Amino acid sequence: MKHVDTTGLRIAYDVHGGGGGVPLVLIHAFPFDRSMWDPQVGVLAGTRRVVAVDLRGFGGSATASDGAMERMAEDVRAVVEAEFLGPSVIGGLSMGGYVAMAYLRKYPMDVAGLVLANTRPGSDTDAARKGRLALIDAVREHGMQAVVDAMFGKMLSPAAYASDDPLVEDVRERMLGARPDGVIAALAGMAVRGDSTDLLTAVAVPTLLIAGTEDTLIPHDDMARMASLIERARLVSLEGAGHLSNLEAPGAFTSAVADFLAGLDA
Ligand code: MLT
Repeated sequence: MKHVDTTGLRIAYDVHGGGGGVPLVLIHAFPFDRSMWDPQVGVLAGTRRVVAVDLRGFGGSATASDGAMERMAEDVRAVVEAEFLGPSVIGGLSMGGYVAMAYLRKYPMDVAGLVLANTRPGSDTDAARKGRLALIDAVREHGMQAVVDAMFGKMLSPAAYASDDPLVEDVRERMLGARPDGVIAALAGMAVRGDSTDLLTAVAVPTLLIAGTEDTLIPHDDMARMASLIERARLVSLEGAGHLSNLEAPGAFTSAVADFLAGLDA
């Protein structure tokens, strides 16, 4: 594990691989950490550097009370600069996608492409914002069990929960292992995040969208609508996968990203 402190906060990350391909930065979902990319990094790092970052408040990174998506994008930027990555593909799943969009808004000249998985450009509705605030109170009272109670059932496809796939318990354990202070800051940050729809229509970088056909948190139709807004978008739909599509359909997810990256290298 490496770390950088240039934003005044210790941000942990890993660098995998090497080679001449355009670098890839991967940003995890809520409430996970960079280890959620373990199924992807080995394969993708064969031809390029792949950097998996722990957002503030998660994994090996320090926590700050400000969990705004913009601050998280600045932390990612500190890693990109520390590693002299230059223009990179910025990839994120769900909350990681919100941070990737914030990164694009702040540093458009240094984005060679985007991978946006199981995410959405819009800000929270009033109801969603209220839900986040209620969840913050519940986390203060009950810790990470409150997040499991509210969100665990939406992380995978209904079929996964009905099976004895060890991934189900693995996801629950990962959620329980997150830190309440980091989770509270991120919930508050997501609740106030801005709308990035205008950004996606205006900034034409090659974009890979990955959706799970069984995502109950960010429905597939929402991702299809998002694809229609982006000029240079390719939508890959992972049949049967739920919200954490990179964990539920790891091979197909990795292949989609590898194909997209190969197209950019050419
Ligand atoms: C995530 O998977 O990162 C979060 O569920 C996103 C969200 O709550 O909006």
